[in-house]
Amino acid sequence: MSYTYEECKATADWLMAQTDIRPRIGIVCGSGLGGLANLLKDQVVFNYRDIPNFPQSTVHGHAGRLVFGTLKGRPCVCMQGRFHLYEGYPIQKITLPIRIFKLLGVDTVILTNAAGGLNQDFKVGDIMIMKDHINMPGFAGNNPLSGPNDERFGTRFPCMSDAYDRELQQLAMEVGQELGYGDFLREGVYCVLSGPSFETIAECRMLHRLGADAVGMSTVHEVIVARHCGMRVFALSLITNQAVMDYDSEEKANHEEVLQTGKQRSEQLERLVSTLVTRIEHNNIYA
Ligand code: HPA
Repeated sequence: MSYTYEECKATADWLMAQTDIRPRIGIVCGSGLGGLANLLKDQVVFNYRDIPNFPQSTVHGHAGRLVFGTLKGRPCVCMQGRFHLYEGYPIQKITLPIRIFKLLGVDTVILTNAAGGLNQDFKVGDIMIMKDHINMPGFAGNNPLSGPNDERFGTRFPCMSDAYDRELQQLAMEVGQELGYGDFLREGVYCVLSGPSFETIAECRMLHRLGADAVGMSTVHEVIVARHCGMRVFALSLITNQAVMDYDSEEKANHEEVLQTGKQRSEQLERLVSTLVTRIEHNNIYA
């Protein structure tokens, strides 16, 4: 099931009728990383259940609120809680909020997620700037752009080799160094799987060999939809656990560990994103 342009527009218009904030930056918070929304000043908050056409968050650690506000003077909108394939929603429903961002006037999307580390140099607590992705569900035909294409959003065959804005990656690296985060700031390739079961050892080994540095269950669908409608994208993964790659290991991936690591690093991740937002303004990347 796909939403029409008119349905997306109706939801965006409904939101704009209730707040004067006109965000240029849209932020999507990953598992355990929703604290970012609390940094917004002059908040106007909507529960997902009250927004026409919106899906509901069903996952522990995802609040289910759309928060409008300003981050150091910049108008932003923040999804506190996102939707995943494993919740059973059609992929077009998961990515609906991204199109609503576009219709609200957003031109830059910042996404965060929790991910398992595949790169053996990564440690738990590292923050990885996403430079690229591998869309596994897409290989199996599950792409959010499947179905009729509405040119008002974008072209039928969008380019993805420039999905992750290089200027923003560079800027984030600089900001991270200035904040003293150099020791745990990395960059790499994120591979999405549909979940909800975590990966087997053989699957982790395979993904690593295919060039993935981290594995998770989100973000990529949102990135594809954001690029389709011409928004700039920046994304960060918090490495909350090491993917198990070895049959001798006693480690077991679990959601509690994911949330726990999120809590420990969340303040630094929030500061990185909020400083980046101010620097986007200072650098005058906007037209
Ligand atoms: N695998 C998939 N998704 C994840 C993981 C993982 O190890 N950690 C956090 N999200």
